[in-house]
This record gives sequence, structure tokens and C-alpha cells, in this order.
Amino acid sequence: MKIAVLKEGAGETRCAAIPETVKKFVALGAEVAVERGAGAGASIPDSEFETAGAKLGDRGEVLKGAGVILCVNGPDAKDLAGAAPGALLVGALDPAGRRDAVDGYAKAGLDALAMEWMPRITRAQSMDILSSQSNLAGYKAVVDAANAYKRAFPMMMTAAGTVSPAKAFVMGVGVAGLQAIATARRLGAQVSATDVRSATREQIQSLGAKPIFVENVAGIEGEGSGGYAAEMSPEYQKAQAELVSGHIAKQDIVITTALIPGKPAPRLISDAQIASMRPGSVIVDMAAGAGGNVEGTVAGETVEKHGVTIIGAANLARSLAADASALFARNLYNFLSAFWEKDQNKPVLPDDDELVKGIRLTHGGKVVHERLS
Ligand code: NAI
Repeated sequence: MKIAVLKEGAGETRCAAIPETVKKFVALGAEVAVERGAGAGASIPDSEFETAGAKLGDRGEVLKGAGVILCVNGPDAKDLAGAAPGALLVGALDPAGRRDAVDGYAKAGLDALAMEWMPRITRAQSMDILSSQSNLAGYKAVVDAANAYKRAFPMMMTAAGTVSPAKAFVMGVGVAGLQAIATARRLGAQVSATDVRSATREQIQSLGAKPIFVENVAGIEGEGSGGYAAEMSPEYQKAQAELVSGHIAKQDIVITTALIPGKPAPRLISDAQIASMRPGSVIVDMAAGAGGNVEGTVAGETVEKHGVTIIGAANLARSLAADASALFARNLYNFLSAFWEKDQNKPVLPDDDELVKGIRLTHGGKVVHERLS
């Protein structure tokens, strides 16, 4: 079994393999071929991949005869010329946004596996690329906020007077939000947080932050399927907006992370609420790529409104390429090794397995995923 590791396109710094996972694949019995320069953005020189047991080559050489192709972002099918029909293409393939590419994989006879659709069940936790990348992004959002903020986070009592602690508010306490709370606390901010899922109240408290929750409104549980949030009722949204208005005016740093699967990001902060904040405050909108939680957010850009800096965060994990690659690469290894059949020396994916059904987009020349029919 040959495993190919692709060099990513422009703008992507991460790599789908690291020397550690190469070594582990070799130990399973695989041959690993890494495209030259694949690790450069993550500070992994080609020589380290070689030392780990990989062969280096250009795109055509690594694809030739490969049964598994690892990538961070899915390439266009035309850039996979020479890949053998039946090969597994494993990465963050963005099936909802790149339907044309998925059709191309089917035409090429590839088995495309979109790791971001991995079911969120205990068995798949170590394979969950959304979690591994969101966790790092939550940390980086706070570091970026601290960088843009013209004051200090921790309280400091000095001979020249006292520096007050920053007040940070985290909206949306999933994987990224929890890490944002922890990071802001480590930096010394006074942290509060909110979510629509009532289960997060205890998690917020356990990190030493103050929960800010809508009370006494119908449908307050906010839990949709698979641990994700549901879209809230108009009554709830109104109560939430009032609660946030009172709170946000006193905040220096706001990190928003709220997402609802399959829907645009919920609007949590209005222009009037931004105007109520003290000049110099910083908002990091981690939902910018999904339409944004904040009015006026521009994905990938930093804008200023009413003296408040609004960072439209996009792909924060890319700016931590070494760690992000390591976690991503281990997610892929954990998935493939769980299905590795020793006697056949390859991963075997049963049609009826919950994980396979969750992520397999194409098979036998056809698009097979129910969400793409
Ligand atoms: P996400 O990225 O989809 O959303 C971020 C957060 O925003 C969520 O906590 C959501 O409840 C919240 N949110 C949505 N609408 C909101 C609104 N109007 N106001 C305030 N907050 C709002 O969520 P993420 O980070 O992917 O994780 C969600 C949950 O999934 C986790 O807390 C966990 O329970 C579960 N999970 C399970 C895994 C597994 O078992 N393999 C792995 C990762 C997460």
C-alpha cells in the first residue's frame, strides 16, 4: 500500500502528514511518498520526512500507484491526474462548498473522504479535524485580540498605579470557545461567556469564567442533533439580544464563535451594540467565514467601526501551521489505522460503518453521500 502526501496550494501552510505519522504508517506496512516541499509551510524540511522513512517526489511520482492520497484541502480532480481509480482521497474536502471538485473525484473513480463530516461520536474523537483545528483557532483568536488591544490583559499593581484587567466575553462555547475562555483566563482577563446550549454553563464555570445566559424563555436548551446548536426561536433571539446589549457595553474583548450546521452564522452583535463599546475594544469574529456573528465583519480582514477593531478571523489554524499540521496529520492517521487490515496491508472501509457513511462522498465512480444527492 502506497500513501501519497500532497503539497498544498497557495495560502495553505499546513501539511497532511508529519514525520511521526509517516513513521507510524511505515510501521503499519505502508510505503509513504511525500511531494517535495509539502512540509515547508509547517517548518518540516523534506529531509525529516526522508529520515522518517518517506520517499520524496513530484506530484506525478507520489501519485503513481498510490492507494491513499492525503491532503489538507481537496485539490481539483485535474490536479490528481495519474491517481489510480479506487484510491482513497482523505482530507478537508469542503463538499458543501466545492461540489464541482466532488463530481471530479467521482469521475476519476476516487473514493473521496471528507474528514470534516466525521460523526461526532466518542469513537471518532481522535479523528475529528474540526475539533483539533478549532481548539488551536480559539487560542489564536485571543492572542490576536491581545495583539490588537492597546491595553494589557492582566491586572497589574505597579508603583505608577494600577492597570485594570481586561474584560473578555466569549460568545459560543464549543471547542474554539472553550479554548478561548481558557486562553483569556491564562492571560489574566476577567472572562464571561454565553451559549445557547445549557450544557455549556457548567463548562464555563469549570474554567473559572462567568456564565451569561438567557433565563425563563421557552426552548432554552438550544441543543440540536449531534451536540450542535439548533436555530433559536424569535422570542429567544430577542431575549438574547437584550441580555447581550447590557453586557457587551462593559466588555473590552469579545470573541464570537457561534455556528449552526448548514445555516448561516447567527447574528449576535449589531452595529448599535458595537457603538456601545469603549473605543479601543477588540472583537474577533471566528464565524466570519460563515457570514459572521458581528454586523460589518469582513472575512479575512480587520476593520474599525466606532473605534472598535473587528477582526474577521479566517483560517486561524493556518497561522499555527506546525501544531495544526501535527494534530490534523494524527487525525488522519487515527482514522486510517482504525480501518487497517493487517493481512491485506491496507485500510478496508465497510459500507455499513457509521464513520464511513458519514464521510464517504464518492465510490465506484458515483457521488454516494446522502447530503449531496
Ligand atoms: P460549533 O462550531 O458548531 O459552534 C460553536 C458554538 O456556538 C456551539 O457551542 C454552539 O452551541 C454555539 N452557538 C450556536 N448558536 C449560538 C447563538 N445564537 N448564541 C450563542 N452561541 C451559539 O460547535 P463545535 O465547537 O463544533 O462543538 C459543538 C459541540 O459538539 C461540543 O461542545 C461538543 O459537545 C460536541 N463535540 C463532540 C465531539 C465528539 O464527540 N467527537 C467532538 C467535538 C465536539
